[in-house]
Amino acid sequence: MSNRTFTMIKPDAMKNGHAGAILDRIIKEGFRVVSLKLTKLSKEKAGEFYAVHKERPFYGELVDFMSSGVIIAAILEKDNAVNAFRTLIGATNPAQAEAGTIRKLFATSIGENAVHGSDSDENAQIEGSFFFSGLEQF
Ligand code: CMP
Repeated sequence: MSNRTFTMIKPDAMKNGHAGAILDRIIKEGFRVVSLKLTKLSKEKAGEFYAVHKERPFYGELVDFMSSGVIIAAILEKDNAVNAFRTLIGATNPAQAEAGTIRKLFATSIGENAVHGSDSDENAQIEGSFFFSGLEQF
């Protein structure tokens, strides 16, 4: 069990003006910000980040969407961070997310679901390093 996870505030939440509320909620839930940046993924970089989903029918749509606008990428720290963050954001499909979770509050569909959260300690490490060098992790 590691104490770090990785998140992105996705283009839908950025365009809909929810970034401030989402960051505020994350911090109020006790996550410490280790790294944070506003950035934009090219199609190539979005495809690389989500390469694990390459064979899935929604891969093309996912890559187009994740490269459609700016995002906020962050590494977060808290005890049992991966699981704690997944509880905070709720189910991938906002229709199935618990009341009060970030996706229930701010997501519009399974494809445009406001935030990403790592699904394992190993992926949290890989995903955080995709966006941040060691010098950018505090
Ligand atoms: P995320 O947690 O970022 O990881 C993979 C993403 O693929 C997921 O959030 C969803 O946004 C997206 N995704 C998963 N299933 C579907 C689906 N059935 N249709 C469209 N997008 C999906």
